Amino acid sequence: MTKTLRILGLESSCDDTAAAVVSSQGQRVMSSVVYTQTDIHADFGGVVPEIAARAHAEKLDYCVEAALAEAKVNLANIDAIAVTSGPGLIGGVLAGVMCARGLAAGQNIPLIGVNHLAGHALTPRMTDDLPFPYLMLLVSGGHCQFLLVQALDKFTRLGGTIDDAPGEAFDKIARLLALPQPGGPAVETTARDGDPKAISLPRPLLNRPGCDMSFSGLKTAVLRARDQIIAQDGGLPKAKRANLCASFQTAVADVLKEKTKRALAKAAEITGNTVPLAVAGGVAANTEIRTSLNLVSDSFVAPPLRFCTDNAAMIAWAGLELFQAGLTDPENLIARPRWPLDKISPTMLGSGKKGAKA
Ligand code: KG4
Ligand code: ZN
Repeated sequence: MTKTLRILGLESSCDDTAAAVVSSQGQRVMSSVVYTQTDIHADFGGVVPEIAARAHAEKLDYCVEAALAEAKVNLANIDAIAVTSGPGLIGGVLAGVMCARGLAAGQNIPLIGVNHLAGHALTPRMTDDLPFPYLMLLVSGGHCQFLLVQALDKFTRLGGTIDDAPGEAFDKIARLLALPQPGGPAVETTARDGDPKAISLPRPLLNRPGCDMSFSGLKTAVLRARDQIIAQDGGLPKAKRANLCASFQTAVADVLKEKTKRALAKAAEITGNTVPLAVAGGVAANTEIRTSLNLVSDSFVAPPLRFCTDNAAMIAWAGLELFQAGLTDPENLIARPRWPLDKISPTMLGSGKKGAKA
């Protein structure tokens, strides 16, 4: 019988401090603790790297203790430590790497540096046993890319945003329309009372071949439409605000749907077969976007939201898979601000408010 492996994972690359324990057998995720920093950055309109790094350094120990307690294990029951060692905001990544190095050295167990994007990309294997190959669409406030996932170390980026990430666009639209942050859920709720055809918005880059996307023009178009309404009506009536939200949301869903179709075709061309579609990232919570993605693939996998957004279970899981493949790191593991998963495709121009991640 194979030994049950338990991995402790740490995540601190952006604005969530997280720790989790996963097991190679049974329920897999034994615990997943996330301490979000949203409140401490709220007054600044974005993540402040120095504040984030300090908060990670303060909270990591508590998250580790809580994750061990929730899993009902102690460090002596852990076989290896996995940690996000990039890409991300360097202060936060460093805090996580240093904590993991200390824990691994103290327990004399292996250390595994995990690429944050690989953590997201491998999540459907943890939640749904999805076999390779598959297409992963990562859509959050910081990421937006299509990855063809063929093996633990074989990721091909088929396209991505050339400016804002979709979550970032939702957040900016919310700000333009005086809705609360995070913008995604607020825009989605408001859109329910709106007419998606009321305001004509562009579908950026659809007239260009390939799978690259752009969302910043859409934001400018919403700003113009809003200003026009204000000039005409002397304010922004509730019904028109709902129309703006609905029209924007449908525009994003249309772009993602069409580009996903193309990415799936490209993936089939590369692998010689139709591949399943999986999604991760906070924007995957959006019902209209989920529904439209579901339409383009017969096998669509959307992991539970708590594993789609930033968490440490995905890092522990990726660490487990790497550990099983014999891929551990030396005890002087370093933090990497940039770490493209796909070493061949050119670097993206932009990828979100939380810093270019790949
Ligand atoms: O994955 P995530 O928790 O954090 C990172 O960005 O890494 O994603 C957060 C993003 C935010 O921009 C938020 O507005 C967006 O996901 N989001 C949504 C929805 N829920 C969260 N966007 C659209 N519709 C939603 N229901
Ligand atoms: Zn992430």
